[in-house]
Amino acid sequence: MRILGIETSCDETSAAVVEETGDASKPWAIRSNVIASQAPIHREWGGVVPELASRQHIRDICGVVARALDDGRSTWSDLGAIAVTQGPGLVGSLLVGVSFAKAAAATANLPLVGVHHLAGHIESLVLQNGEMPLPAVVLVVSGGHTSLYLVERPGRYELLSRTRDDAAGEAYDKVAKLLGLGYPGGPVIDRLAKQGNDRAIPLPTTRLTHADRNAPELKGDLDFSFSGLKTAVLRYVRQRAVAQAFSPADIADIAASFQRIVVTVLIERLFDAARRYQARSVGIAGGVSANSRLRAELQARGEGKEIPTFLPSLQLSTDNAAMIAAAGLRKLRAGITSSLDMNADAALAL
Ligand code: KG4
Ligand code: ZN
Repeated sequence: MRILGIETSCDETSAAVVEETGDASKPWAIRSNVIASQAPIHREWGGVVPELASRQHIRDICGVVARALDDGRSTWSDLGAIAVTQGPGLVGSLLVGVSFAKAAAATANLPLVGVHHLAGHIESLVLQNGEMPLPAVVLVVSGGHTSLYLVERPGRYELLSRTRDDAAGEAYDKVAKLLGLGYPGGPVIDRLAKQGNDRAIPLPTTRLTHADRNAPELKGDLDFSFSGLKTAVLRYVRQRAVAQAFSPADIADIAASFQRIVVTVLIERLFDAARRYQARSVGIAGGVSANSRLRAELQARGEGKEIPTFLPSLQLSTDNAAMIAAAGLRKLRAGITSSLDMNADAALAL
């Protein structure tokens, strides 16, 4: 079976054709994965402007889907289903993909599968590497989310913890903004950090010990928090900037020091969870999994004494439709489809 995936939850319009391989250990293969990024449009405003995003999705969606079919040497009649990100995300952006997918499914008489964006990020690991040994603990770390999931069975995702405030990618974006480095912040900080001293600036780490009053069902001690770190960078920058201007070397030191804390916290919490739940593998997915230091530290752990580690390719780290198609195939195989009255849901639960 071949499936068309569509992703428009934020500022990338993406469509992909993914097919089943028949190989249980590596179940899916990518035929095409077209991504039209809106980053140049939003950069001017220092972040994603929702109204501009949905308008651009409308302009791009038809061309992106046509290109994905073309690149995947597929026609509508080669497809067995259409998968689309139903949420979470920006509602105006989600609506473009959902409306397109519904119209296409109705016209081509194909089953429709609504997919949770984070299920897509988790399945990007399987799309890239094949099935992970289960139980697996997966860290999904992006501009909107920083959450740990336990996967005990394929397609079942149990939330273990999440950030109490900012997502890690959001902290990258905000720190980059206050340093005047532009949007998105992750890739620039990642690049600059390589030239900096990661111990130059003392910055705090957070360890949460109490349950979150907003989520009493979670124990809370595996939760994340990045707003204090972001504020510490802001304070440091304000204090120093009064006395002297920053040189490029100073900026690199701030980037490196900030990145060391973020990566250390993410890796430590992931392996704490892996030990607690006796995981047989761990993975990191989502936009921040493109981070070079995070990738290097995870791989080093994998090569050392600990358990097998999984990462998506760089293209599958940030938002893309191939991962949505993969998660769609997973649901379809479990017999789950959506009806044509499915709606976009900005706060969809996994
Ligand atoms: O998954 P994604 O494309 O969109 C969301 O679902 O949010 O993630 C985007 C986030 C942005 O915050 C961006 O700054 C961050 O991923 N990011 C990175 C890197 N590349 C992208 N963060 C750190 N290092 C990177 N190399
Ligand atoms: Zn994402």
